[in-house]
Parts: sequence; C-alpha cells; structure tokens
Amino acid sequence: MTSTMTALFGGAGPAWELRQVPVPRPGPGQVLVRARAVALNNADAAMVADADPTNGGTGKEYQAGYEFAGEIAAVGSGVDTVTVGERVMGTSPASFAQYVIADHRHVVTVPDELPYEEACALPTGLLTEHGALTAGGFRPGQSVLITGASSSIGLIGIQIAKALDAGQVIATTRTAAKADLLVRTGADTVVATGEEDLTSAVLHATGGEGADVVLDHVGGAVFAAALPATRVDGSVVNIGRLDTAATTIDLDALSYRHLRLRGVSFGFTRAAELGEVIAAAGRQLLPAVADGRVRPLIDSSHTFATATEALDRLRSHQAHGKLVLVVP
Ligand SMILES: NC(=O)c1ccc[n+]([C@@H]2O[C@H](COP(=O)([O-])OP(=O)(O)OC[C@H]3O[C@@H](n4cnc5c(N)ncnc54)[C@H](OP(=O)(O)O)[C@@H]3O)[C@@H](O)[C@H]2O)c1
Repeated sequence: MTSTMTALFGGAGPAWELRQVPVPRPGPGQVLVRARAVALNNADAAMVADADPTNGGTGKEYQAGYEFAGEIAAVGSGVDTVTVGERVMGTSPASFAQYVIADHRHVVTVPDELPYEEACALPTGLLTEHGALTAGGFRPGQSVLITGASSSIGLIGIQIAKALDAGQVIATTRTAAKADLLVRTGADTVVATGEEDLTSAVLHATGGEGADVVLDHVGGAVFAAALPATRVDGSVVNIGRLDTAATTIDLDALSYRHLRLRGVSFGFTRAAELGEVIAAAGRQLLPAVADGRVRPLIDSSHTFATATEALDRLRSHQAHGKLVLVVP
C-alpha cells in the first residue's frame, strides 16, 4: 500500500480540488477500504456551498463524500465482521478518496453480481428507505405511498417495498413525464401531484382506506395532503424536504385517523444505531440486491479529474438517478 492517496477536498472554492494526503490507518472498530467507486448525494452540494469562501462560505477545508464501494484493505483492532479483500459498500464521511476509513458497522458485503459502480450508489438509499419503512412499522401485504418517488432514494424505496412484499406501492411525481419510470421501477399506481389531487387519488387507489405507510421525500403541501390519504392507525415517515420544510397540517386528519408521524435523518443518527439500521437493511435486502430486484438508477459516471462535471449536474437537479465517480 502506498503512503499517500488522492482525495477530493472542498473549502477552497465552488468545486472540489484534488489533493495528495496520507493514507489513514484504521483505529479500533474501524476498517480501511480501498475505494473503487463513490456516489454523490445532495448533501455534497450543500457542503461545498457552505464551505466556499468565494461565496460567503466558511473556507473550512474538508475531505468530501459519504458513500463508497471497494474492498477491505485493513481492519482495526476488534473487527471480526469483515476480512481483508472482502468487497463492501458503505457510508462514511470523507469517502471521496482512494482509501476510506469507516466504522465496521457501517459497511455491508457487496454481492458478487453487483459492480462497484452500482454498489457505491446504494448504501444511502438502502439504509434510508429500509430504515424509514421499519420506523413506519411496515409489514408485508401493506400498501406504501412514496412521495417524490422519482428521487434517487425514492426509486430504491419502491424496489425495497416490492421486495418486502408490499401489497401496493403508490408513487408520486410532479408531472406525468416520469410515470413510465416509476411503473418500470415497480410502482402499481402513479399520482402526478401537479395534475391531480394527491389525497383523492390515493384514497381512490386504496378503495377509500388510504395507504398503510407513507414515505415522504417532499414535505410542504404534499406532506400535508398525505395525512388524509393514510389509513386509520397508519404511519407517515418524513425522509426529505424536496419542496419545503415548513407545512401546515390538518390536525383533524392526524387525530381522527390515529396516525403516527415519524421523521428520520440517518446522517444525524448515533454510530451504533446507524449500524443496526445498516445491518437490518443488509440482512433483509442483500438477496434482492444480488438478484437485481433492488438496483440504483445511475445517471452518469465521472472520474475524480472530472468530478466538477458531476457536481454541476447534481446542482442542476437535472440528473435522473445517481452520479458516480470512479476512483483512480
Ligand atoms: N432522511 C435521510 O436520512 C435522508 C437521506 C438521504 C436523502 N434524504 C433526502 O431525501 C430527498 C431525496 O433525496 P435524493 O438525493 O434521492 O433526491 P434527488 O434524486 O435529487 O431527487 C430529485 C427528484 O426530486 C423531485 N423534486 C425536486 N424538487 C421537488 C419539489 N419542489 N417538490 C417535489 N418534488 C421535487 C423531482 O421529481 P419529479 O420531477 O418526478 O417530481 C426530482 O426528479 C432529499 O430531500 C434528501 O435531502 C434524506
């Protein structure tokens, strides 16, 4: 193993810069992964903007990234869950580098069938959507409403719900243009929220009862409209705020329907708890990943040298699926 590595850093301007830095050593409970591919998340764009000193940011330099896939290069003391050479995917800050340090509980095995360029784009979606379904008390046979379902993680949510035997998956998008994509991904019903009333459409699709579990990626008016579209004793889990974080809800809908409201934000979850969420997702979903029932949609692949193109595409909000960087 070399002593230095290439990594992408934010904090010097509106884009990442390539740096040579020492290869880190894994501490107790940690693994060192030779990353082969990494994927971008919206949080990466927010981090670059917050640190950009040319546009009012902090100027605080940091090694970028969250998701990765590669093989275990070394393990720290006390780690017996993975071995050197094993193919893994996972989540950890500072993942945009040739070598990534991660908590050993935050990686799972990559099935042989899955190339690194797809594996790197799965951890956030798998753990978030599975964790949210679990938080919502989902059981096989139940109906699931997924708002903002054409988002990268929403598409994973559709596939996970189907793989876990959801009785019905209802997916929303703002216009009908992405309806085909949602149906191909596994949605039974698509609601175009810009063209039809969300509450009425979901009630109609569920025989007037509403969905058992809602995975909401949108917030705002869509979140509010999802409450009266949820079955009595059902759950609404907020995952994202693609529209707005502020909303006005009808407390009658909440109370009369005995709804449970949950919020999840796995980037702010304690390490041990996140480890349990990732382990549960791995246990229940790796067979479905291996046989192709759960796969990420990849918009495009880039290199570290052309990472700015990927960042610009992320910021454009035009990407259909995940942006991937192949690690040098
Ligand atoms: N809770 C967690 O731990 C966690 C983890 C990861 C991500 N997230 C959050 O989950 C959400 C989805 O993340 P992602 O990276 O998968 O998103 P993404 O791929 O960037 O989502 C893009 C899609 O969002 C929809 N969209 C954009 N603006 C919208 C608006 N104003 N109202 C409704 N829909 C809108 C569009 O779909 P249409 O054109 O089809 O409408 C667009 O195709 C984000 O809010 C993200 O911050 C949460």
